Amino acid sequence: MSENILVAIAWPYANAEIHVGNITGSHLPGDIFARYHRLKGNRVLMVSGTDSHGTPVTLRADALGRSVEEVYQAYHRGFLELFQKLGIHYDLFTSTHTENHFKVAQCIFLALQKNGYLYTETRPQWYSPQAKRFLPDRYVEGTCYLCGYEGARSDQCDQCGNVLEPEKLLNPRSKVDGSTPELRETEHFYLDLSKLEPDVAAFLRARQHYWRETVVGQSLGQIESEGLKPRPITRDLDWGIPVPVEGWEGKCIYVWFEAVIGYLSAAIEAAKISSHPDAWKDWWTNPEAKTYYFIGKDNIFFHAAMWPAQLMGTGEQFLEIYAGEKGQRLNVPYDVPANQFMNLEGQKISGSRNWAVWGLDFLSRYDPDTLRFYLTFNMPENKDSDWDWLEFCTRNNNDLVATWGNLANRMLSFAFKHWEGRVPQPGELSPADQEILATVEQGFQTVGSFIEKVQLRAGLFEALRLASEVNKYLDVVAPWFAIKSDKAAAATSVYTALRAIDSLKILFAPFLPFSSERLHTYLGYTKPLFGSQKVETICDALGEHLVLRYLPDHASGKWEPSRLEPGQKLVQPAPLYRKLDESLVAEERSRLGKPK
Ligand code: MF3
Ligand code: ZN
Repeated sequence: MSENILVAIAWPYANAEIHVGNITGSHLPGDIFARYHRLKGNRVLMVSGTDSHGTPVTLRADALGRSVEEVYQAYHRGFLELFQKLGIHYDLFTSTHTENHFKVAQCIFLALQKNGYLYTETRPQWYSPQAKRFLPDRYVEGTCYLCGYEGARSDQCDQCGNVLEPEKLLNPRSKVDGSTPELRETEHFYLDLSKLEPDVAAFLRARQHYWRETVVGQSLGQIESEGLKPRPITRDLDWGIPVPVEGWEGKCIYVWFEAVIGYLSAAIEAAKISSHPDAWKDWWTNPEAKTYYFIGKDNIFFHAAMWPAQLMGTGEQFLEIYAGEKGQRLNVPYDVPANQFMNLEGQKISGSRNWAVWGLDFLSRYDPDTLRFYLTFNMPENKDSDWDWLEFCTRNNNDLVATWGNLANRMLSFAFKHWEGRVPQPGELSPADQEILATVEQGFQTVGSFIEKVQLRAGLFEALRLASEVNKYLDVVAPWFAIKSDKAAAATSVYTALRAIDSLKILFAPFLPFSSERLHTYLGYTKPLFGSQKVETICDALGEHLVLRYLPDHASGKWEPSRLEPGQKLVQPAPLYRKLDESLVAEERSRLGKPK
C-alpha cells in the first residue's frame, strides 16, 4: 500500500545565500529521501520556503540600505535558482510572506488562544527614543553582565556563550544608529509551554527508540533538566504577521512561532495550486501519514519541542477556526532527523567572513551530482563533518568516477561499439552471471532500508559497494578479451553487466539524479526517471510571489530491479562524471575568507 510522506525542510532565512553546510544539513537529505519515496510509489509532499520575516532579515536589509521586501525577494530568487540547478525537487517552495501563510499562522495563534495556552504579560523592553520604536533583542548590543564582554548582543553573549536576559545588559547601544536605548514597558502574548510540557515530554519519549540519539538527547535532555518555560510569541515590529487581536496593531507574531507553521501553510497552498484544495489533509490530518523534518542541529528545539507543543495545543481548533470543520487534529512530527554541522577546512562555516562554499558559486564550476555525491558521502548525520577540498577531489576521482562512472561508461561504450548500438542478446546466464544480478538486486532492499531509516550515507556506501562488486565480476569475466574468441560468451556477460548497471542506476538515482537520468537515456529508455521543476507566479493581497514546483510529468522511474530487454537500442554514451585536477585544491582554498 502506498504511504503518505511529508518531507518538511527547514525554511532558509532570506538574509544570506545558501552554502554547502545548509545543503547537506537539510535540503539534500530531504530531497534524497523524497526522491526515494517517489520511486517507491509513495505519495510524497516536500515543502519549504523562504523565511522572510524576523530580525535576521531586517538587519540584513538595514545593512544593505534596501527595503526588506527587495532583500527577501532577491535571496528568494537565488534559492529558486539553486534548487533548480541542484535538482532539489520541492513539490512547493514558497515563502512566509503570502496571504495564505498569514491566514494559517493567525488561525494557529487563535486556536492556541481559544484552548487557553496563551496569556499576556507586560515587561520592560529596550526602546529607542531616537528611532521612536522598540528594538528587537538582536538590535541591542552592550556589555555582558556575566563576563564583562563589551560586544554582547542583548539576548546572547558570544564570549561566555550564555543566554542573557536582555534588560540586564550594561551600557546598551542601538545597532541601528549607536544611540542609547531606554527600558519601556510593553505587552506581549506568551505561549504557556509549561502547561504543554507533559505532552511534549510524552511525545518525545514515545519516539525515543527510533529518533537519532543527538536529537532526543538535546530535546528531551533540555526538558528533563530545565523544563519548558513560557515564551513570548509576539514582537514590537512592523515587518511580519500582524497579531490577529484587536488593539494589537503594530505588533507581529514572533518569527519562529510562525515560520514552523509554514510546513502546514505550504501544504495547504500546494493543494490549492493543484486544484484539489483538500489534498493537504492526506499529510496533515490522516493519522497514517508520516511527517519527517529535515533540519540542522541549531533548529532542534523549535522542531522537537516548540512545534509539537504548538500542534498539540492547537488540538481540534485549527480546522474549526480555519474551515469550520470539527473533530480533526493535525499530525505531530513522526521523525526529526536533524543533522549536525559541516565545517570547512577545519573551521566553522561563516558567511560574514566568506569562509564558505556557496551553492550557486560552486555550481558555476562543477556539476550538481559531484556536489550531491561529496555532501552525501560526508553528511553530518551523527557528528560534525568537514568539507576538505583535497578530499573533495579524491572522492570524486577515486569513488564517484573510478568505482561508478567508469563502470557505466566502459560497459555502455563497449556494448554500443560491438553490438551495433544495441543491448546484446545473452545466451544462458551462468551461475556467476546470476549471482552478480542477485547481489545487485538485493540493493533494492538494503539501500532502501537505509534510506527509510534516514541513514543516507550508509545507503550511498551500500550502492557503491554493489558497484564495486560489478567491477569485480567484470575483472573475472573480462568480456573485452572474451570478445576476440567467443563473441556469444562476451554478449552474455555484457548483457549481465548492463542489466546490473541499469539496476544500479536506480539505486544511485535518489543521490545522483542528473547522472542517473543521463544513463537512463544512454540505455535507450525514452521516458524520464523523474519529473521537472517550474517557477510560477502567485498573486494575492500581498503582491506577486514566485514559487518553485515539482511536476511529475512522465516520470517513470521505479524502485525495482532492471528488466533490460535484449536488443533495446542504445544511445551513444558520454562519460557521466569528470575527473578533477588536483590543482583545484589550491585554487579553491585561496578563495576562502576573501571578501566576496
Ligand atoms: N530560518 C530558520 C533558520 O535558518 C529556520 C526556520 S525553520 C522553520 O535557522 F521551519 F521554522 F521555518
Ligand atoms: Zn558574557
